[in-house]
Amino acid sequence: MNSATLLLNGRDYELPVVVGTEDEIGIDVSALRAKTGAITLDGGYGNTGSCRSAITFIDGERGILRYRGYPIEEVAEHASFAEVCYLLIYGELPTAIELGRFEDALTRHSLIHEDMKKFFEGFPPSAHPMAILSAMVASLAAYYPQDLDEPDRDLNIVRLLSKVRTIAAFAYKKSIGQPFVYPRNDLSYTENFLHMMFAVPAEPYRVPAVLDRALNLLLILHADHEQNCSTSTVRMVGSSQANLFASISAGICALWGPLHGGANQKVIEMLEAIRADGGDYEKYVEKAKDKDSGFRLMGFGHRVYKNFDPRAQILKAAADEVLAEMGIADPLLAIAKNLEEVALSDPFFVERRLYPNVDFYSGILYRAMGIPTEMFTVMFALGRLPGWIAQWKEMIEDPKARISRPRQIYVGAAKRRFVSIEERERVLVHA
Ligand code: CMC
Repeated sequence: MNSATLLLNGRDYELPVVVGTEDEIGIDVSALRAKTGAITLDGGYGNTGSCRSAITFIDGERGILRYRGYPIEEVAEHASFAEVCYLLIYGELPTAIELGRFEDALTRHSLIHEDMKKFFEGFPPSAHPMAILSAMVASLAAYYPQDLDEPDRDLNIVRLLSKVRTIAAFAYKKSIGQPFVYPRNDLSYTENFLHMMFAVPAEPYRVPAVLDRALNLLLILHADHEQNCSTSTVRMVGSSQANLFASISAGICALWGPLHGGANQKVIEMLEAIRADGGDYEKYVEKAKDKDSGFRLMGFGHRVYKNFDPRAQILKAAADEVLAEMGIADPLLAIAKNLEEVALSDPFFVERRLYPNVDFYSGILYRAMGIPTEMFTVMFALGRLPGWIAQWKEMIEDPKARISRPRQIYVGAAKRRFVSIEERERVLVHA
């Protein structure tokens, strides 16, 4: 199949067909308007490919997710998060020497400029950590002005990956009124984050291995997810050649919403509400089915996954293991499982192919790790960072990339004569 034929106003137009590695088919409409005068209309972009990308493959029907060709299940079992960052950003798994150099660079760039610490003083204690994170990441551009050339670009990529941990941990410390804990160069990427989050100057802190493993897994499972709302935002902002920090900060803001990364916080709030309401999960399933209630089961449904979300399956198993190892019996886990069971056998959810997504079980794990609910979306952002960076880099390096500029179908008023303010008032008085 090389082309598709469009019949418009009695005329045939040939449109080239693009086929991806896994036989996904796209109709190339880039010359559509020039040829026909028409545009495509696809609210929510459910049928629109915005780029060609070699980073992540998803088959939502079969529950497949692969980073650079590697199945998520294998990556999650064998890789460290630093390795995944390298894989996503540079395209191949690193050799031992490449990984060593990369980890070393991540370690050495973890401090933030001392002046940036003062920013934290300006935020109210109640500030949502996503507000702090997005502002701080955009502010990095003030300290590390960007040249889009390669050596500079790579340095800023490492700075961003490294400093984001420090910013996130400092935001948490600020929110609980504890002193900032500086990073330590003898710790791994994930250990360092946990150390900055949970250590206090008054006593020594050893990062529990179970926490480190859980964090590694969570970050890996969130690391990329092709063209979703936040990633497309990063590409959209970056397409104007805005700097890396500004582009990623925009992605962080897009992630914040409850329909996207903000869902993990909402899932726990929902489970807590169900518990406070006597644990009657069936009532909440019924409520979610009632369109007038405005209520949705948070952590359920996905634009792409229509049978299962492979990340949710891995996290469900991990939640059982981690909680058992930590000796925690979280009543919310039981509520989550019951809710899932009831929803999955209900025709409303079956017909709409709504399944638990990545956010459904991640919150249970974050809770067990001692991470407060308000920080959950920040954790998602830490995980998604290498994906955003990889997608931004792929776009910047594409010689054919153009500024993102969609079109629209205008449905407002037709041309009309301007009405002076005096005339407008006369119309109002007589009305
Ligand atoms: N609870 C109840 N009904 C739902 C839900 C839900 N969680 N999700 C979708 N539906 C219904 C929806 O009402 C609609 O019904 P109908 O066809 O009768 O009008 C149908 O299912 C299709 O929903 P949609 O809103 O058109 O689907 P979408 O692809 O535009 O939205 C979604 C996908 C993830 C935003 C949506 O499923 C949702 O709001 N889920 C809850 C929020 C959530 O968990 N978000 C995290 C997404 S995964 C992580 C990430 O990517 O950030």
